Amino acid sequence: MPAPAATTKNLELLRDQIRHHNYRYHVLDDPEVPDAEYDRLMRQLQELEREHPELVTTDSPTQRVGDEPVLAFGSVKHRVPMLSLDNAFSADELREFHRRVATRLEMDVDAPLQYAAEPKLDGAAVSLLYEDGVLVRGATRGDGATGEDVTHNVRTIESIPLRLIGRNYPSLLEVRGEVFMPRAGFETYNEKARAAGEKTFVNPRNAAAGSLRQLDPKLTAARPLDIYVYYVGEAVGATLPSLHSEILDQLQEWGLKVCPERKVVDGVSGCLEYYEAIGAMRDALPYEIDGVVYKVDHLAMQRELGHVSRAPRWAVAHKFPAQEELTVVQGIEFQVGRTGALTPVARLEPVFVGGVTVSNATLHNIDELHRKDVRVGDTVVLRRAGDVIPEVASVIVQRRPDGARRTNLPKKCPVCGSAVSREPGEAVARCSGGLYCPAQRIEALKHFVSRKAMDVDGLGGRMIEQLVAIDRIKSAAELYGLNLGELAAMDRMGDKSAGNLIKAIEASKSTTLSRFLFALGIREVGEATAANLAAYFGNLAGIERASEEELEQVPDVGPIVASRIRDFFDEPHNLDVIRSLQDSGVHWTDSEPQQAANEGPLSGKTFVLTGTLTAMTRDEAKLLIQRCGGKVTGSVSKKTNFVIYGENAGSKLSKAQSLEVPTLNETAFRALVGGQLDR
Ligand code: IVH
Repeated sequence: MPAPAATTKNLELLRDQIRHHNYRYHVLDDPEVPDAEYDRLMRQLQELEREHPELVTTDSPTQRVGDEPVLAFGSVKHRVPMLSLDNAFSADELREFHRRVATRLEMDVDAPLQYAAEPKLDGAAVSLLYEDGVLVRGATRGDGATGEDVTHNVRTIESIPLRLIGRNYPSLLEVRGEVFMPRAGFETYNEKARAAGEKTFVNPRNAAAGSLRQLDPKLTAARPLDIYVYYVGEAVGATLPSLHSEILDQLQEWGLKVCPERKVVDGVSGCLEYYEAIGAMRDALPYEIDGVVYKVDHLAMQRELGHVSRAPRWAVAHKFPAQEELTVVQGIEFQVGRTGALTPVARLEPVFVGGVTVSNATLHNIDELHRKDVRVGDTVVLRRAGDVIPEVASVIVQRRPDGARRTNLPKKCPVCGSAVSREPGEAVARCSGGLYCPAQRIEALKHFVSRKAMDVDGLGGRMIEQLVAIDRIKSAAELYGLNLGELAAMDRMGDKSAGNLIKAIEASKSTTLSRFLFALGIREVGEATAANLAAYFGNLAGIERASEEELEQVPDVGPIVASRIRDFFDEPHNLDVIRSLQDSGVHWTDSEPQQAANEGPLSGKTFVLTGTLTAMTRDEAKLLIQRCGGKVTGSVSKKTNFVIYGENAGSKLSKAQSLEVPTLNETAFRALVGGQLDR
């Protein structure tokens, strides 16, 4: 039975609404409705389409990710070749370019001439083909004449419209642009990959190009990709404006995303000002660029100028100084951090990259070192982008000297000689020396005196290193035994600065429980957790005595953090240090504990939360249960009364089922806490 006309109309209306919100969100960066409203529309559309599968069209917003991976990439012959750009590496080369343009146009070099200036995005060029407003093909640049068909992947990029908006678009439109991975997405992606022991991307450009060349669109869909379009290859059935800058505005009106940093400038001086301005904000831009592009704005002039085999004569890329350079690894050493973590660091032949001279680069951890297979003597690509710390991006294996050997994890700590151990499943290897290890002691002390901890003003890293080197300070408590005379005798100290330091040390004795807890440097206990612990227990004795289960009642504290806290206070040495700190006069004011169990409808009941809740975070749910008198723990046992599960709940839910512990979905949970929800 064909669907009633009203359904078809409804469907199209819904799709148009969603397209409009997509446009506001992704292209204009100015959403009109909250995410929840968008999700609701999307669910409505999905439901309608489920009921009427015959009405699903390929340009429906629900159809971004295809079901099946493709077996291989088809090849695409570009109807109009995809040209590249000539480069200018200096102001002089830019002036040279402008002179050639003016001469060909038979203009005076000083006559006004507008350029459309844009950032040069560092990603992968793509061509998007729209027929009657519908995206029918996406292709890579390839060699400029032939590229690869990556339609299945470009469809997953949410800022690429599957259908153009408005009415007066050309019947055939081929636009070009750069697909890129925004800096933030790139960093997060790599951090996650590193933690999971997976391969990281060398730079955002490779990330974009690699993501586009996936056979399975689901993989591409999971990558944070974006696009800016910057050129029309072909347009049939509509007249485009006569200026490049106006064409970009027009493309935006049709729903395509263009770079907001574009600008029309006048002559070489305008170009240079733009270059300076974009250069100054380069590190703050959310995407990576390697220069700026100037294009003669008038299309009539562009036609007049034409192109050579590879590049147009009317455009040039003005490059920024490189963010990647080659250098040689002179050594690989292991640094020991506050918690004993061993971090391999490459000592490099100094190299100027991204605006600074770099001679060290972290290799993160031993797995990362082996995955990248960096060896002493290797020639490597060093990358420093923005204010991100310098990194060995890759090794030029072809230039590896004979006999270069793999660096292995040392069995003993390079600083104190204690055994190095590595917990199964952890990427990090640690020195087991604890505060016996001078490296850990130095880092622990630096942390202890830092501004957000005990805040000892004027006690710098160098002084701490000296004090540890002469074995004058073995633990934080000994800091409070330092006297004026010995401080004044240290390197670079005089009576006055020693006096000030003594005063600062004295002043730090009066502190808060939260600062003190943070200063102790308990693993996994950052500033926020310390503040939560202090507020919840009100005094130190309560925390020292608390079981893991009790600790888990504190907001933000899960089973791992709870066990780290327990381990810390189970160590007699740590308790000794705390006692001597208090004996030296470190003090704070206790507060009223919050932990006394509330009386309420859930008194005596224990809950476990798992999966993603939609109406609240797990921490909010935890607070709610506590307010009703209930308890929340991290692991399911026979003693658990209820397991509350959200989306993607995993092993805890199955464990509850096997132990026959009652389970509640979010709706049932909300019903249970009912009246408490509005408080
Ligand atoms: S215009 C005919 N504009 O740079 C004009 N290209 O080195 C073709 N690129 O292949 C290119 N940002 O992948 C243009 N704003 C921009 C660009 C840009 C990045 C890339 C593009 C091109 C390469 C040439």
